[in-house]
Amino acid sequence: MIFSFRKKKTDTAGQVDFSRLPRHIAIILDGNGRWARRRGLPRTAGHKVGAETFRTIATYCRDIGIEYLTVYAFSTENWKRPREEVETIMSLLKKYLLEAIDTMERDNVRLRFMGDMSPLSDELKGLVDQCNAISQRLTGCLCSICINYGGRAELVHAARQFAEDCRVGLVKPSDLTEEMLSGYLYSEGIPDPELLIRPGGEQRLSNFLLWQCAYTEFYSTDVLWPDFKKENLLEAIAAYQRRDRRYGGV
Ligand code: IPE
Ligand code: IPE
Ligand code: MG
Repeated sequence: MIFSFRKKKTDTAGQVDFSRLPRHIAIILDGNGRWARRRGLPRTAGHKVGAETFRTIATYCRDIGIEYLTVYAFSTENWKRPREEVETIMSLLKKYLLEAIDTMERDNVRLRFMGDMSPLSDELKGLVDQCNAISQRLTGCLCSICINYGGRAELVHAARQFAEDCRVGLVKPSDLTEEMLSGYLYSEGIPDPELLIRPGGEQRLSNFLLWQCAYTEFYSTDVLWPDFKKENLLEAIAAYQRRDRRYGGV
């Protein structure tokens, strides 16, 4: 599959060097509501199609050998939305998790959930636990789904955990390093994303991976998430590969 792409030098895939793909891609799944509005449909219809797009893109990332995929599915701020919309998103999540429980072993895809799961329904929390348990046995691509996630909330959570470890004498405040702080985040053990993609055209982080994206290459596209195709992913990777990552050097 990958080889047939390489032959077509004129298309986007031909511009991608598959031998130096980013190890970790993060995506802000944005634009579902606008996609629906443009079609005269309720916003929830956009979330349904967006969930399909997620399946397609996650599978494709695994196929081309991306080791880590992290997606922003529901933020700590998204609870402000109308109840019906929040309920639809939660029911789509349930549907996805039920499918994942059946397929992740076959596909060798690990799932991780980043965020505060405590406000989720007991049913959803149970499904999250089941996915986590299955993931323990697997070795493949790690897909992290951020639900009720906020970058600031993640840092507060980490600071509290660290303070607690200090209180019980496991560590001292002066022990704290950047590496150690990373270990207190939901993303513990996962390298920082090299590439962050935001469909939907906005040029902001919206509280996503504030710590982890310190040196991440940001790619924004006007394509709305439900319209996002493999070609758009490859365009983003090609753009990333053209960047000069200086990390403050010359
Ligand atoms: C992203 O799409 C999905 C979530 C935030 C849950 P939006 O629903 O934000 O879509 P737009 O930005 O309104 O188009
Ligand atoms: C970011 O999208 C959150 C997710 C995609 C889950 P939003 O639509 O909530 O972001 P803003 O409101 O445009 O900043
Ligand atoms: Mg949005």
